[in-house]
Amino acid sequence: MRICVVGAGRMGLPVAVQFASRGATVLSADVNAQLVDMVNAGRLPYDDEPELHDRLGAALASGRYWATTDTTAAVRESEAVVVLVRMVTDAAGSPDYGNLDAATAAIGAGLQRGTVVSYETTLPVGDTRRRFGAALAAASGLRAGEDFHLCFSPERVSSGRIFRDLATYPKIVGGLTPACAEAGRRLYAEHLDAEVWTLTSPEAAELTKVAETTYRDVNIALANEFARYADEMGVDYGEVARAANSQPYSHLHQPGLGVGGHCIPVYPYFFISRAADARLVSLARSLNDEMPSYGAERLSAMLGGLSGRRVLVLGLSYRPDLRESSHSTAAATISALRDRGAEVRLHDPFFGPSGVAAHGYEWGEPGDGWAEALVVHTAHSIYRELTPAGAASVSAVLDGRNALDPVPWRAAGVQYAGVGR
Ligand SMILES: NC(=O)c1ccc[n+]([C@@H]2O[C@H](COP(=O)([O-])OP(=O)(O)OC[C@H]3O[C@@H](n4cnc5c(N)ncnc54)[C@H](O)[C@@H]3O)[C@@H](O)[C@H]2O)c1
Repeated sequence: MRICVVGAGRMGLPVAVQFASRGATVLSADVNAQLVDMVNAGRLPYDDEPELHDRLGAALASGRYWATTDTTAAVRESEAVVVLVRMVTDAAGSPDYGNLDAATAAIGAGLQRGTVVSYETTLPVGDTRRRFGAALAAASGLRAGEDFHLCFSPERVSSGRIFRDLATYPKIVGGLTPACAEAGRRLYAEHLDAEVWTLTSPEAAELTKVAETTYRDVNIALANEFARYADEMGVDYGEVARAANSQPYSHLHQPGLGVGGHCIPVYPYFFISRAADARLVSLARSLNDEMPSYGAERLSAMLGGLSGRRVLVLGLSYRPDLRESSHSTAAATISALRDRGAEVRLHDPFFGPSGVAAHGYEWGEPGDGWAEALVVHTAHSIYRELTPAGAASVSAVLDGRNALDPVPWRAAGVQYAGVGR
């Protein structure tokens, strides 16, 4: 099969390389000419995706994989087109369709009869059919579901473990017609190890992704609400959650200083903005957005106010052990501390002093003698190993991810509080 993957970013490139590893001839089409040159030279702009470098090298060496900036020409020669172009959203989740509309116009200009087009970029429900199906039909003069196949198949994997997730998470495909679904099923069944599940419509597949991410957000909000109550009552939420989850119908999540990343805090808005009756999800969003302020208040209570206090925030990333700052709640955490008068510095080994400065923050280190208080924003492994001796100037710790062992800190006379702990 000849496949064009539009978008050669964090998701599109590994997916293209995966298809090539199963014998397909694959073209990555991306508007970023510098990225295309790098990919064709076997180089990557990041190094934290396991297996990707070696798999890209193998794909290039096979002679059946290369990257191009000419999406229309690549589509013209392809039997299948997979779209993994980033949908940019603002903090309130409003989509900017610029990239996807441009990619769709370029695809439509090269689209051939019989081709299957599968959108994998997360979309608000209805967009595959109404926005992109209609645009492809207008640009190509072909009929969606009759002259070409159209599917939505959410990309559900996480960066840092893409190949593992691609092999294990069922691949969900919804087609405009049963024939579209079958064409999508064949594309994925032939090139992935995972099971392929066909749903009855693109809308069902779109809602699957919005629902699975919103489920996480709402359940984190519930954990935060319980954790705040546990703090009020002097109860350890972690102990409670473990006990409650010993019964098979309870899946209590972890509380923390907010929800970051470009998926979980964003896609609930795709639901809220389209579902007239949505109520619970908006409330969960605002509860999670309050958590940085809650953490700042908790630290303030420990220190008797934050005015002029020197606070070092540990972690800029939204996920542990990765360099990923998209929609990270580190920014809201720092603002909440500053709003209460604290001086704030930031540490993150995955960004280093220059990366932290590029985000507009001053660098600090736990052992440099500056900080009176630490706020753990990201549960990087390195922070789990931090000891009171490695942060001798610190008298209070707000552990926003319940990542540290409180025992040595309290034994050293440091005030320690987590979230629900
Ligand atoms: N990154 C993740 O962790 C993740 C996880 C699951 C799903 N997703 C989904 O995957 C989508 C893509 O994410 P990503 O992390 O790969 O984004 P990315 O920004 O790393 O890559 C997107 C690529 O699309 C290219 N592009 C932009 N406009 C284009 C156009 N008109 N034609 C061709 N290429 C174009 C960009 O140059 C870029 O290389 C997201 O919007 C999301 O829906 C991402």
